[in-house]
Amino acid sequence: MAVLEVNNLKKSFDRTEVLKDISFSLEKGEVLSIIGSSGSGKTTLLRCLNFLERAEKGTIAVNGKEIFNGENLKKTPESVIRENRLHFGLVFQSFNLFPQYTVLQNITLAPTLLKRGTPEEIEEKAKSLIARVGLTEKTDFYPCQLSGGQQQRVAIARALALTPDVLCFDEPTSALDPELTGEVLKVIRDLKNGDCTMIVVTHEMEFAKSVSDKIMFMADGVIEEMGTPEEVFGNPKSEKTRAFLNSSLEQF
Ligand SMILES: Nc1ncnc2c1ncn2[C@@H]1O[C@H](COP(=O)(O)OP(=O)(O)OP(=O)(O)O)[C@@H](O)[C@H]1O
Ligand SMILES: [Mg+2]
Repeated sequence: MAVLEVNNLKKSFDRTEVLKDISFSLEKGEVLSIIGSSGSGKTTLLRCLNFLERAEKGTIAVNGKEIFNGENLKKTPESVIRENRLHFGLVFQSFNLFPQYTVLQNITLAPTLLKRGTPEEIEEKAKSLIARVGLTEKTDFYPCQLSGGQQQRVAIARALALTPDVLCFDEPTSALDPELTGEVLKVIRDLKNGDCTMIVVTHEMEFAKSVSDKIMFMADGVIEEMGTPEEVFGNPKSEKTRAFLNSSLEQF
């Protein structure tokens, strides 16, 4: 069974349709990379999955259970939406750590508020996540004492602390100096080997090619093309995909 099934998602801002009719599914442990030019709707899609934006139409199901239906939107209580949001984790471009809290506190905060175990259990899990992203020595440091790459690794550990079904990344390395992108991409690669289901919006084509099971190319709010990395990068069917890939190659 698919972990995630999205059907006919539509989202407009004012009268502009930003997501036109988005349908796709993801199996457990799969990594989907979303590529596409600026303004094509990549961030909006992630925000709709995380309910930071509400799509007007379409459905989202996780592990076979419908958690969003545009038709019932007005009837869905805020508490149910908050609960459903927990199926997804989101790592932003700009880390967004709480500056007044240590690495450990950043990670234990949400599970503590949501009572996801005893304080000891929560701390133990947080420490194992800190180890997983290679930051044990920084456990009691504050975000301002960390590099951008280290902060982003804490943000990843924080998202994992709530054991989401799908972990989403919105350009996780684009705010980093080039020499720091590798350590963040390595963490994402390791998570894939640990069977984590992920959606990664990225401009890192080589990374997308090597880590993904599926590539989605978005253009003007539609899925212009979707397939394996071999299909999309090796033998793109659509003229728009070819043009995008050629222009990305020129940039790097
Ligand atoms: N809150 C908003 N209000 C109005 N329009 C918006 C809003 N958010 C996004 N848009 C518009 O929706 C379109 C898609 O934006 P989105 O941020 O999803 O693109 P993107 O593919 O993530 O681009 P980028 O690669 O630059 O991050 C753009 O035309 C954008 O101007
Ligand atoms: Mg974006």
